Amino acid sequence: MKIFIDSADLGEIREANDMGAIDGVTTNPSLLAKAQVRRETAIEQICDIVDGPISAEVFGTTTETILEEGRALAKIHKNVVIKVPLIIDGLKAVRQLTAEGIQTNVTLCFSGNQALLAAKAGATFISPFVGRLDDLGEEGMELVEKICTIYRNYEFATNVLVASVRHPVHVLQAALIGADVCTLPLKVIHQLAMHPMTEKGLAKFLEDAKKIPS
Ligand code: E4P
Repeated sequence: MKIFIDSADLGEIREANDMGAIDGVTTNPSLLAKAQVRRETAIEQICDIVDGPISAEVFGTTTETILEEGRALAKIHKNVVIKVPLIIDGLKAVRQLTAEGIQTNVTLCFSGNQALLAAKAGATFISPFVGRLDDLGEEGMELVEKICTIYRNYEFATNVLVASVRHPVHVLQAALIGADVCTLPLKVIHQLAMHPMTEKGLAKFLEDAKKIPS
């Protein structure tokens, strides 16, 4: 399973890249606002750090505005993936962007039927938001299972990108289900590396190292 970082913060992206942990990056308007950076500036700088798919989200909600923004963003770098909301105008734009050879990530997916339509439109990635479904008292990962089954049944090429990930159990479940990608905040990437037995074992080794005759 590929791991992307879900961030627009260059410091966080560099840290995850230095760990060798990431294969790509996802951004969204909220992450850009949090990092206080212009979308185009952020995308250019991220493309200089990470060599993999970099999702840049459109702000438009009509097919025409999505296409205009998507085409301009795709010119920034060959790795740019246009992130499009799962609305009817968005699906029309995805169909056209795909025909033009531009990669897309269909975002804000909350049902199997939405994922079916995104795949039929030719999306490169589909992003089911598991954490936001969990927040409603639903099992977010069940949606990932459904999408993987639908895509397997009909051999769709669209990659399942698990989004809105909140903790390491989401990552483990995504990998066990066989999702293609999981996008994580830096905090969760760090949590994946941590284990109390590793800390304890290291402390003991360092203590014993002092007792070795020189
Ligand atoms: C995915 O591409 C989104 O940027 C992200 O995962 C949304 O996560 P949130 O629900 O934590 O905002």
